[in-house]
Amino acid sequence: MSNRRLPNASLLVLAIGTHLSAQGGPPLPPPGVPPVPVPPGNPITVSKTLLGKALFWDEQLSATNTISCGTCHVPGNGGSDPRSALFGSVHPGFDGLFATPDDIRGSRGVANSEADGDWIATQFFGLAEQVTSRKAPTMINAAYAPLLFWDGRAGPNFVDPVTSTVVLQQGALEAQAALPPVNAVEMGHLGTTWTELAAKIGALEPLALAEDVPTDLQNFVRGKTYAELFQTAFGTPGVSASRTLLAIGTYERTLISGQSAWDDFLAGNQAALTQQQQQGRAIFFGQGNCGACHGGQLLTNNTFRNIGVRPIQEDLGRGAITGNPADNGRFKVPSLRNVALRAPYFHNGGAANLTAVVDFYNRGGDFFVNQDPLIQPLGLTLQQRQALVAFLQAFTDPRVANETAPFDRPSLYSESNHVPVALGAPTPGPGGFVPRMWATEPPVLGNPNLTLAVDRGTGGAPAFLIVDTSAIAAGWNLFGAQLYFALTPAVSIFPMGALSGSGPGNGSTSRSFATPLDAGLQGQTLTAQWVIAAGSAGNLLSATSAAQLTLY
Ligand code: HEC
Ligand code: HEC
Repeated sequence: MSNRRLPNASLLVLAIGTHLSAQGGPPLPPPGVPPVPVPPGNPITVSKTLLGKALFWDEQLSATNTISCGTCHVPGNGGSDPRSALFGSVHPGFDGLFATPDDIRGSRGVANSEADGDWIATQFFGLAEQVTSRKAPTMINAAYAPLLFWDGRAGPNFVDPVTSTVVLQQGALEAQAALPPVNAVEMGHLGTTWTELAAKIGALEPLALAEDVPTDLQNFVRGKTYAELFQTAFGTPGVSASRTLLAIGTYERTLISGQSAWDDFLAGNQAALTQQQQQGRAIFFGQGNCGACHGGQLLTNNTFRNIGVRPIQEDLGRGAITGNPADNGRFKVPSLRNVALRAPYFHNGGAANLTAVVDFYNRGGDFFVNQDPLIQPLGLTLQQRQALVAFLQAFTDPRVANETAPFDRPSLYSESNHVPVALGAPTPGPGGFVPRMWATEPPVLGNPNLTLAVDRGTGGAPAFLIVDTSAIAAGWNLFGAQLYFALTPAVSIFPMGALSGSGPGNGSTSRSFATPLDAGLQGQTLTAQWVIAAGSAGNLLSATSAAQLTLY
């Protein structure tokens, strides 16, 4: 154990200013957070904030109409992605294999798609939503960080992605926001440009897919086009990439969280922390030395450090950006505000909960090459570790946890009961591979691009998409395959030719439809199923389960 730690910290009683640092450690910060830094070229206004909020929560910004910024950045999850904890949000990591220790709990974005709505299988994910190779950090209080992303690659300047001119200095939020919408893993299709995306935004009905839109936002967007909202927010007409990003950045500068039990305590309310939390606080600033990196009002010093979460070569982090080997394995010190809401933890989502994080620090981290000398085995007892975990709960802002203003938000299509549901069981094909049906996009009337896709079929085998406009509840058998449509005139059969890819389990294809803008079709239920002319166990066919879509 390092001798740099404060010996018997309880002997040191420092009174600095009005903030009594009982039980030792550095002087305590004032409660709350500092004033938010605002770049001179992008002042905060109400209309720009509301426009940014609409854009942040609008799934129509993605190629598949299924992912908004907010899908991966949910206030109730402390600004990160609740799906990171779930099956299906795993990236195979450095070794390219699932279910190995280097797997990453990331964020699901979009299926790999082309501009025309066709989907193309990728190595790890097939036609499933691709998963990011890092966990989503929070957008809450991100306004304070001069550089964004775990590796600090966004900022400080904001360069217009279309004209390549510097629009803002200290515009890391705008610089960051420029990337996900044109990233083919997160929101975009292959080759999306900001020019195309700005044109798409200009033609959209704002938040058309969202529900429960907060009142102020609802009043702002109601009956308006984005083009009109941009005119209101910027004073002159024009929807552009740069303006889109200025608005999103402005909204994020209003997502400032500085109210928590810890702040109440700092303001003088001793009762705001339990006895156990107060003990944890002494460890945080004393024996645990957490405050060395997670100190101050923001509970981060915004530096890049290697605490030894993973072997360096798996992700060079800051080193890949600066090219300086000393930066290898360094990642941005995250603010611990709202941290209790944000499991799993670290840039790889590798620690399932705060207990796992504290255990990690207590053993001095897991990987030691280039590790920060501040990270040392701590020798904390179980009871001390529990106290530290309890203290980390004190950083939660109830407005964030409860998603109240300014952290209120619409609910998303992807959270609604409009998402198509799976029906019945699939019929495996050769090699026992089970073909998967993909129906994730909104079956909303007037959707120019609703894609239905299949993967894990047999490459080269002919495939058919069957769509039945009557809702079938039970299946029947044809050449060994379980089918979920009736053979009536209500059935349409779309022959798709041979599945791309070769061999069992590697076949995929997709078909995209324009849903008619016909109110008469509201509530019409469709059953869709892929049938593949390659079977197993004496069957001639294999099939996906069915998807049931209700037009709305
Ligand atoms: C598919 C999920 C996903 C979507 C969609 C997404 N993000 Fe992120 N976001 C991430 C991940 C993952 C990272 C971390 C990436 C890295 O560090 O390499 C990130 C990083 C960030 C950060 C940096 C925070 C920090 O402290 O460094 C901000 C801010 C942010 N995103 C805002 C946005 C905005 C604004 C949008 C929409 C324009 C958006 N995100 C869309 C997953 C997503
Ligand atoms: C040397 C600086 C440093 C020290 C000291 C330090 N941390 Fe960290 N902390 C970091 C960095 C850097 C990360 C992100 C690491 C990563 O993901 O690779 C982090 C991540 C975390 C996280 C996860 C946050 C998230 O959103 O995923 C928690 C919780 C945390 N630290 C708590 C603590 C506690 C408790 C202590 C004291 C026992 C401590 N830290 C000491 C730098 C430090």
